[in-house]
Amino acid sequence: MLNFTLHIPTKIIFGKGEVQRTGEIVKEYANKVLLVTGRSSTKKTGALDKVTRSLEAAGVEYVLFNQVEPNPRAETVDQGGQLARDEQCELILALGGGSAMDAAKAIAAIAISSRPIHEYIRGNKTGLWKQLQPVKEALPVITIPTLAATGSEANSNAVITNWETKEKAGISGPALFPRAAILDPELTFSVPAHYTADGAVDMFSHLYEVYLTGDENANVQDEMTEGLMRNAVKYAKTAIDRPEDYDARAHLLWTSTLALVGIANAGRGGSNPVHKIEHTLSAHYDISHGRGLAVLTPAYFRKIIIKDRPHRLARLGRQVFNISLENDLAACDATIEALVEWFKEIGTYDTLKNLGIKKEDLKMMAEETIRVGGLGKNSLDGTHPITADEVLSIYEEVF
Ligand code: NZQ
Ligand code: ZN
Repeated sequence: MLNFTLHIPTKIIFGKGEVQRTGEIVKEYANKVLLVTGRSSTKKTGALDKVTRSLEAAGVEYVLFNQVEPNPRAETVDQGGQLARDEQCELILALGGGSAMDAAKAIAAIAISSRPIHEYIRGNKTGLWKQLQPVKEALPVITIPTLAATGSEANSNAVITNWETKEKAGISGPALFPRAAILDPELTFSVPAHYTADGAVDMFSHLYEVYLTGDENANVQDEMTEGLMRNAVKYAKTAIDRPEDYDARAHLLWTSTLALVGIANAGRGGSNPVHKIEHTLSAHYDISHGRGLAVLTPAYFRKIIIKDRPHRLARLGRQVFNISLENDLAACDATIEALVEWFKEIGTYDTLKNLGIKKEDLKMMAEETIRVGGLGKNSLDGTHPITADEVLSIYEEVF
């Protein structure tokens, strides 16, 4: 196990009806907030009403910024930052999926610095979004997730897209940890089947990527990760079949938070190459992040992991999908089959072509993946340095 420092300052308030305590919780930190949401779902589902009523009851003033699109864009974040400054908001309150929560964190940073969000990424003068500067100053943030997927509710990351340059990348830093996260599983009852499935794949990916690429001598983390992966698999189908099954929604939401809060992955190092390979797809084609991961994962296992670390993929299969084969390579094949079966069952099995991606763009996107996500080398970090040719071969395999 590698050395690590873990400091998670986010207070987590979890459970049925807890959204009604929003005003009281926010009031501990601020009297006036910018309330950041997506464009329509929170209004339709009634979540926005619940939050604004609670704020009003607690005497917290709010300004609504409901312009965040899925895969949030730099210009939207810049507008939100300007509004937070103009209105002298003291805290940014996010209500929504990963997109609203990520935009809220980025807005919290630029509300203080008055800089455009793209300046937070070093190398920006050449248009490169890489080598992140840790964000040390931001307004306080509180999150209320309405979709179980990213774990953004309790981590210090935000992923933003510069649509003009087609670059999607994260910012991160201690100041972006939410002060509190209000996790009310009932807010996720309305998530449609396809986003429920994509979200389950996203949390599963946050777990398997580091499990497969990181230090192998971290059994505590391995067993936590395996347990969380089993829960993502187990509850996704139930939540799709019975959207208002509280237990299924609660387990999915807590799994998504724990998958990327830092605990399961502490002391492992490791990397997330599949995320980087996916981010290029959503930067160019604006597709759902979880759906992109679902398309890429079987090919990543076949092209990279089965060659580099078959024993780890075999262990994943045995622990998560009950594969009983003793030979590692045979167990890997069976694991990939079981994974594809799960994706089909929850309706997230797909191809790049079906997502509207053009074959002639694959080579360019493989090169872009290395340029934007490659951290200064000619390759992506993984079980070995992954080259643009290998990224292309993954894209081609699932076209
Ligand atoms: O936009 P609105 O109208 O709010 O509707 C959203 C959106 O259309 C809808 N939705 C959300 N909650 C709902 C609901 N519909 C009905 N009922 C509800 N309760 O779902 C759609 C997708 O929402 P979005 O927020 O885009 O999805 P998700 O939570 O998957 O977030 C994806 C974004 O997070 C980034 C992704 O790259 C992507 O930009 N990520 C953030 C991470 C982090 N901060 O740590 C890590 C992840 O790996 C990921 O990269
Ligand atoms: Zn993700």
